[in-house]
Amino acid sequence: MSISLEQLSDQCREILSEKSGADALESVRQVLEKVLVDDAFVAAHIGPQETAGRKVLFEDPDLGFTICAHARGNKAESPPHDHGNSWAIYGQVAGETQMTDWRKLSAPEGDKPGTVKAVRTYTLKPGMAKYYNVGDLHSPSRSLPTRLIRIEGRNMDNAPQRDRYVVAETAS
Ligand SMILES: [Fe+2]
Repeated sequence: MSISLEQLSDQCREILSEKSGADALESVRQVLEKVLVDDAFVAAHIGPQETAGRKVLFEDPDLGFTICAHARGNKAESPPHDHGNSWAIYGQVAGETQMTDWRKLSAPEGDKPGTVKAVRTYTLKPGMAKYYNVGDLHSPSRSLPTRLIRIEGRNMDNAPQRDRYVVAETAS
């Protein structure tokens, strides 16, 4: 049975009201994985016709969590980052995301970026969702267009500029 955007947001609200921390994120992640392979949901919100970049589908007025559709074009690579005081769950609908997790070696100080060391690299394939808790450093890259549904702890459109991190071996 297909899930609607309203049902998805209701389920997220229920989980995030009852649970916290990694336990809550794992539960939301499991819900999101079902949505990623829901043909009707995908067709309505993040089908192949979508090219608009980032689109906010829902923002909870009380808890602040935000459900977004991300349609991205050709090859791109993001630097290591976290999402400030928010968590994020990346859900792959189409295409593949190469993701690297990073360990923080030093924090950013003023204009000086923090330094990081790679922990592991893996591929997010269609139907897979992965959560990044507050402070979890990661860097996505893609070589072909992708479509994702992303759930954020709070709307990243309103977030301050991200902290900068560089790979320790090349840090100056
Ligand atoms: Fe991210």
